[in-house]
Amino acid sequence: MRRILLLNKILIIFIFIIIFCSCDSNTYSDNAVTEIKIGVFLYTKDDTFISTLQSNLEKAARNKEISDNLKIVINSFDGKGNQTVQNEQISKCLEQNYDVLCINLVDRTVAAPIVDKAKTADIPIVFFNREPVKEDIERWEKVYYVGADAKNSGEKQGEIVVDMYNSGKYNLDKNGDGKIQYVMLEGEQGHQDTLLRTEYAIKTITNAGIQLEKLATETANWQRSQGASKTSQFIEQFGDSIELVLSNNDDMALGAIDAFASENKKIPVILGVDCTTPAVEELRNGRLSGTVFGDFKGQAKSIIDLSCALALGKNPKEYVELENGRYVMHPYISVTMENLYKIDLK
Ligand code: GAL
Ligand code: CA
Repeated sequence: MRRILLLNKILIIFIFIIIFCSCDSNTYSDNAVTEIKIGVFLYTKDDTFISTLQSNLEKAARNKEISDNLKIVINSFDGKGNQTVQNEQISKCLEQNYDVLCINLVDRTVAAPIVDKAKTADIPIVFFNREPVKEDIERWEKVYYVGADAKNSGEKQGEIVVDMYNSGKYNLDKNGDGKIQYVMLEGEQGHQDTLLRTEYAIKTITNAGIQLEKLATETANWQRSQGASKTSQFIEQFGDSIELVLSNNDDMALGAIDAFASENKKIPVILGVDCTTPAVEELRNGRLSGTVFGDFKGQAKSIIDLSCALALGKNPKEYVELENGRYVMHPYISVTMENLYKIDLK
């Protein structure tokens, strides 16, 4: 009888152990890594700064997975410079189980209907790089913007010219007429970075008491090939009187370098914005005089941090530094060979 009781006890303990173990495995599955699904919509993949930002988004996501024990799935869509194509891509994802959509609009003026659809589907949006108007951001409380202050990038580019001029190390005024003759290569018309970079680069230079003379302005839509062809026209028209090339971004500045090089002309002071890898190479070669670091690394990290906070229903304020409630703005940094070593690009 005693032996039977003992056996019963052992059996009961055994059953308890089995139940405990199976409970444990349930608990384990409850603790399974949370997966966050992010849709990333690019205005085009054919843009050096945007593709740099995209690869940094991947890096930021992998870091976040480790630090926060998450699984982050990023699906990217190429808008191919066509808003209708991008609208279709967004609509499809709004019908699927995405947690958040990160949108680099093709046309930054058409955010309103996208915001309304996302609100109906209750999927938060993080716009980036191409800034919608404030009214569109404020249409719904789950809409944010990550980017940088375009005015600041113009100022930083202008400061490079002011520093060069004041240092006396560079002969910007080659013909000695007391003015810097310049040409301007502009990005897409209507883009906040085009308008404000042009305006504030010039203001910063002239406010420092340096006289400028504009020879010509042309738009080259952020693209290297267009930057090259527009610069070839400038060279044909103005020849050696070009003392400075201000470009709204690096790719067009690299195009300008291509044009001077292919015409066997001495390369004047050429300045870009972005600090992309090919631009850094030309900076090192001495053919690009300066650029402005558009913190793609910091922006990518903010986009991921913000997206995860929104996906998990957490307060974004605790994860990113917000301006005016909905904006994460990263400062620009002027870059020349003198401080390039201080910029963390990796
Ligand atoms: C700017 C960048 C450009 C281009 C553009 C696209 O911020 O400087 O190179 O990428 O965004 O929207
Ligand atoms: Ca001059």
